Amino acid sequence: MDFKNELSLRVEAAEDVVCRFLPDVEGYQSVVFEAMEYGITAGGKRVRPILMNETFQLFNGEGDVIEPFMAAIEMIHTYSLIHDDLPAMDNDMLRRGKPTVHAAYGEAMGVLAGDALLNYAFETALNAYDAKTDVVAVTEAMRILARKAGVFGMIGGQVVDVEAEKKELEMTEDRLNFIYELKTGALIEASMMIGAVLAGADEEQVELIEEVASKIGMAFQIQDDILDVEGDEAKLGKPIGSDERNEKITYVTFAGIEKSKEEVKRLTDEAVEKLNSLSSHNDFLIELLNYLVYRDN
Ligand code: IPE
Ligand code: IPE
Ligand code: MG
Ligand code: MG
Ligand code: MG
Repeated sequence: MDFKNELSLRVEAAEDVVCRFLPDVEGYQSVVFEAMEYGITAGGKRVRPILMNETFQLFNGEGDVIEPFMAAIEMIHTYSLIHDDLPAMDNDMLRRGKPTVHAAYGEAMGVLAGDALLNYAFETALNAYDAKTDVVAVTEAMRILARKAGVFGMIGGQVVDVEAEKKELEMTEDRLNFIYELKTGALIEASMMIGAVLAGADEEQVELIEEVASKIGMAFQIQDDILDVEGDEAKLGKPIGSDERNEKITYVTFAGIEKSKEEVKRLTDEAVEKLNSLSSHNDFLIELLNYLVYRDN
């Protein structure tokens, strides 16, 4: 089977898992369940749950302990997008090919649907304790999820990203790296590290996976910035030119488009090389990492 077909099977499987954990749309608060579902089911590449599961497979993980965490990471990622699109943040009206959650449900419900997904992600991940997996590993996975999503992870990166808008802060390469490492890198690190931990990888292996994921996260965000400049809105499913409108300094404005493309490739090559130094291999994972460099959505 070719890579594209294999990928679409995995996207479908990841979506099945995520949807299975979503709450039913019912009760007085049903509008928030509807908004959560709207944000999640709109589409999306499902890169994080797929990376998680492929890393779990790389270390020969067994059973269904991974599933609550696959759902949880996609919920946290989706909440981060819902809030990222709010008028107070990037003020975008299109996401995953549909009106953003705040555009469809109003700003207050955009805030609440994001909050709801963040909290529900942890309620969902806790289901992993029911699986026949060492509770110490599940607790470590919970710790990684909490840390990488929070002020020392994704949220911290978004804070500095927002602060750096409209040149309120002088941008340096260091600060830019900090933003990318956290706002995008942290959830990709969490995805791959949790896959490794739940499969029983040792500390050294988890550390290596964190380094690999950090490079992939950086490459992923630089590619996102490139697509914001030269992407196709119909394929992307979100507006192009959002960064320019927000006077955002990105890797592309900082280093230029050619250097940015080289950097995406260089970081990915380094990540793949590091991954290949492990004794176990997952060919699909390597193909996926290489595919992300040239993605158009
Ligand atoms: C968009 O993430 C935000 C970034 C961190 C670059 P994705 O490109 O993974 O968005 P979806 O999930 O496919 O919509
Ligand atoms: C977002 O970065 C990173 C998040 C944590 C959501 P962007 O603001 O560049 O993401 P897009 O381009 O809106 O998806
Ligand atoms: Mg943003
Ligand atoms: Mg944005
Ligand atoms: Mg972007």
